[in-house]
Amino acid sequence: MKRLAVLASGRGSNLQAIIEAVRSGALTLEIVGVASDRPEAQALARAEAAGIPAAVFPPRQYENRRAHEAAILRWLQELEVDIVALAGYLRILSPGFIQALGCPILNIHPSLLPAFPGLNAQSQALAYGVKVSGCTVHFVDEGVDSGPIISQEAVPVLPHDTLESLSERILEAEHRLYPKALQLVAEGLERPERRSARG
Ligand code: GRF
Repeated sequence: MKRLAVLASGRGSNLQAIIEAVRSGALTLEIVGVASDRPEAQALARAEAAGIPAAVFPPRQYENRRAHEAAILRWLQELEVDIVALAGYLRILSPGFIQALGCPILNIHPSLLPAFPGLNAQSQALAYGVKVSGCTVHFVDEGVDSGPIISQEAVPVLPHDTLESLSERILEAEHRLYPKALQLVAEGLERPERRSARG
């Protein structure tokens, strides 16, 4: 079975969905570790409750970004991970880290990329006035929310939506989508060289 590590900075509801998909047998991989850059991240408590080793790497404890990433890299290498999932991890990974790790890294983003990359994707969607939004799971590359797309789920944007109601609807879709996309990678889906053969 492939070995998965999850990096998360906050609430960890996507981590929870992944944990539950593994428990139910819908996702056939082993979660070998969860790491966070924030000691207060709820994701760490969720990992501990599920009996998954949890580690915290507060950036302030390292001299610079390079040293911070090197510590995380060493931890991932010691765990012999095959796949890394970013689940609300609020740091951009450097090209050097991505290359040195050398295994697929996935991310989930709360919009239908390439629409609304970056922060506050749900507010961006409301501000633009789109009628459909959703979420995307993609392979991480050197850019921000720019790597090859694995899967997407659309949700409607309703006339009376608030930031909370839209975010909640997208989050429910995220919890369905992330385990499914991870299963594709667990079954051998690899990051393509380019986003599309037609691109
Ligand atoms: C999600 O909306 C995800 O798309 C984004 O950050 C949020 C993380 O939520 N990247 P959670 O920590 O998984 O609950």
